[in-house]
Amino acid sequence: MKLNEIIKNRVSVKKYLDEKVDISLLTELLDVAVYAPNHKMREPWRFILIDQERKNELKQNWINQSGTIDPQDEKKFDNVFSAPMVIAFIMKLNQNYNDEIEDLQAVAALIQNFMLLAYEQGLGTAIKTPGFIELDGFKEALGIQTDEIIADLVMVGKPEIVPNPKPRIPAKEKISMY
Ligand SMILES: Cc1cc2nc3c(=O)[nH]c(=O)nc-3n(C[C@H](O)[C@H](O)[C@H](O)COP(=O)(O)O)c2cc1C
Repeated sequence: MKLNEIIKNRVSVKKYLDEKVDISLLTELLDVAVYAPNHKMREPWRFILIDQERKNELKQNWINQSGTIDPQDEKKFDNVFSAPMVIAFIMKLNQNYNDEIEDLQAVAALIQNFMLLAYEQGLGTAIKTPGFIELDGFKEALGIQTDEIIADLVMVGKPEIVPNPKPRIPAKEKISMY
């Protein structure tokens, strides 16, 4: 597959087959994805993999940390964690605001790298940023440090249904000559 086909055909997948995802394959893909541009080689990321076997434990830890969880948050949790694997992309916070914006861009580049590589391997992905990723109870349950944030959760697995790519506004409509 050519890179332009990979970029244009990658889509956010909602429904996944009930098949385990090979952790060594994911590790290989992440090992390539880390070649994303990142300023001053801060490499401001780490990854937490949560599979189907551990998702209930994560939810229980969250309940233990918070006492209770909002039913809407629980619904969103169940939706995201319906995928065979979820990768939490963790970013280290930066004391400097401009550096932190750069670091967010670096993490976004890394995630796109990862999703394209996953697509090339026949895996579906979807980025999710439900509100609960900012809650202390959830962050503590997942083992996030005080100087870190969950940048994104990414669902990963063999797709059950592959949606059609959504059309984009052609770039030529957004280009002007200075
Ligand atoms: C930073 C970021 C956060 C996103 N968060 C969500 C989300 O919380 N829920 C969701 O359904 N999709 C989320 N998406 C996915 C977009 O909705 C999706 O990429 C967009 O609709 C384009 O569709 P495509 O990925 O199939 O091309 C997010 C995408 C990005 C880049």
